[in-house]
Amino acid sequence: MPTVLITGCDTGLGREFASQYARDGWAVIATHRDLANAICGTPSIRNHALDVTDPDQFAALKRELGDEPVDLLLSNAGVGLDTGRLGSLDFDYVRRMYEVNTIGPLRLVETFADNVAAGIQRRVAVITSRMGSIGLNLSGGHYGYRASKAGLNAMARSLAIDLFGRGITMLLIHPGWVDTAGGGGGGALPVDVSVASMRGVIGRLGNHETGQFLSYDGTPLQW
Ligand SMILES: NC(=O)c1ccc[n+]([C@@H]2O[C@H](COP(=O)([O-])OP(=O)(O)OC[C@H]3O[C@@H](n4cnc5c(N)ncnc54)[C@H](OP(=O)(O)O)[C@@H]3O)[C@@H](O)[C@H]2O)c1
Repeated sequence: MPTVLITGCDTGLGREFASQYARDGWAVIATHRDLANAICGTPSIRNHALDVTDPDQFAALKRELGDEPVDLLLSNAGVGLDTGRLGSLDFDYVRRMYEVNTIGPLRLVETFADNVAAGIQRRVAVITSRMGSIGLNLSGGHYGYRASKAGLNAMARSLAIDLFGRGITMLLIHPGWVDTAGGGGGGALPVDVSVASMRGVIGRLGNHETGQFLSYDGTPLQW
């Protein structure tokens, strides 16, 4: 039975990933910013606390897991969209988005790289955003969110190169504009459809494809 560790299972895409992998027979380590949002009633889902901005919680989870193999590490937790207009930007929120969306995934991979290397599938999938594409930015604004996801893309590309020698395959994936809180409301894509499609892309990824930036349907995206 393969194992997946997912961040941000409190709501939205993370929660749906946990449910779909569990339904397919995976062992799921579902992590939550707030354990009050634990997913109950499914024996193959283990719930753990993990605020991705808290180094102590990373250390505690690493202690709990020890050397347990993780076949797929799925960085999903994220915040943001808007930080306001130029002239009245909320810089605390800009900083918060960096902490959650950029530094959090880096710490996640650093903490659990050995667990992934010990797995059979050896995959890391990072939920990023098309909004992090510099080339596709034709509408401006969203300074903090765009920058945090562009930074995430840059770091994940380096991780793909640095972890290739350990047999780890890394993917950056945009979920589409999904009908979740993170999508800001009005997202066109149902959450179950987005997650099913991303799971297909993650599952088909060959190790020669590591470090790619793809949309939920597997289409390559401009950096
Ligand atoms: N929906 C879209 O259209 C869309 C498009 C592009 C990219 N994305 C990305 O998809 C990912 C999932 O977002 P979503 O759409 O499912 O929105 P969501 O429902 O808001 O989910 C985000 C999750 O991240 C969790 N989270 C926030 N801060 C955290 C922290 N410090 N530590 C751990 N978990 C934290 C949230 O927990 P709480 O609710 O408890 O704060 C929530 O469960 C994000 O990375 C987002 O940027 C979404």
